[in-house]
Amino acid sequence: MAVVKRIFSGVQPTGNLHLGNYLGAIRNWVALQNRDEYETIFCIVDLHALTQQPEPEALRSAIRATAAAFVAAGVDPTKSVVFAQSTVPGHAELSWLFSCLTPLGWLNRMTQFKEKAGKHRDNAVLGLYAYPVLMAADILLYRATHVPVGEDQKQHLELARDIAGSFNQRYGVDFFPLPEPQILGAATRVMSLRDGTKKMSKSDESDYSRLNMSDDADTIALKIRKAKTDMDALPDHIDLLEARPEARNLLNIYAALTSRPLEEAVAEMAGKQFSDLKRVLTDAAVSLLGPFTAEYNRIMADPAQIDAFLRLGTDRAQAIAAENLAAVQDITGLLRVR
Ligand code: TYM
Repeated sequence: MAVVKRIFSGVQPTGNLHLGNYLGAIRNWVALQNRDEYETIFCIVDLHALTQQPEPEALRSAIRATAAAFVAAGVDPTKSVVFAQSTVPGHAELSWLFSCLTPLGWLNRMTQFKEKAGKHRDNAVLGLYAYPVLMAADILLYRATHVPVGEDQKQHLELARDIAGSFNQRYGVDFFPLPEPQILGAATRVMSLRDGTKKMSKSDESDYSRLNMSDDADTIALKIRKAKTDMDALPDHIDLLEARPEARNLLNIYAALTSRPLEEAVAEMAGKQFSDLKRVLTDAAVSLLGPFTAEYNRIMADPAQIDAFLRLGTDRAQAIAAENLAAVQDITGLLRVR
């Protein structure tokens, strides 16, 4: 079957991947990669990670670790294009071109910037503010049509659509597609194990708030044992979860790990205690993460092999990017005399 859709997505190399990254995004990538009608491009967004000023050595090893985690999770670097953002210079160039079309008012609405900048907005770096513009460039450099992400990226994708539309309108072309978010599965928003109202996140200072993809069985069991609960038995209907964020989160994770709709997980656990849920949840998490960790460690033992598949990904990404960027240069009136 001919390729009809081009998928692009990315993850920041900021240390360990957690279960939210996997259930919200990477697991869906693997499913999409294995369907003939999709061409899939997965990127380690190292330029985005620089907004947090990581130590150079830590960044370097996190880029390789993230690449290894993609592959351990089932991304096949011969089927999908897997590469590091900074190795294709067009991302930064297109980001600049988009910066010249993006009104500040659009960026001022971005909730993630407000959260990350906090009270000290004047001290926040320009890169953090411009972050969603670079993200739009990532997607549109490949004229991707679909973007599988967790729910927290929805607003950024709306901005990417607005930027694509604004470029097309300004230059009177129909060049960029309006990329569609694919927010799929039972766990589009995995919450912290310590607070069911907060997103599971790499930046939470408590490691007990998240299940890292590289946690061993004992650590997983301990973190789930310590996960926050409430006093009541588990409800028998999904509507009752509204007021019970911890129950909702653990049931959501359980449903996602066992690849079932939330309703089924709720029905199985109705009337039972949190301790019962924690037991089956631990088993489900260990059986997912155990093989992942073994595979991850195997891949990490051979950094030259990681670099080799990243190089292959860069070549394939660069070929698409160069063609699109040349077209954009023509459209915008930049000379291509080199
Ligand atoms: P990042 O690195 O924060 O997260 C990577 C992916 O994981 C998803 N995710 C979650 N899903 C469910 N529950 C959670 N608790 C959770 N936490 C994270 C995110 O939604 C994301 O899909 N800006 C992006 C990276 C990026 C990108 C792009 C994504 C840069 N350019 C272009 C798509 C297309 C980010 O920081 O993701």
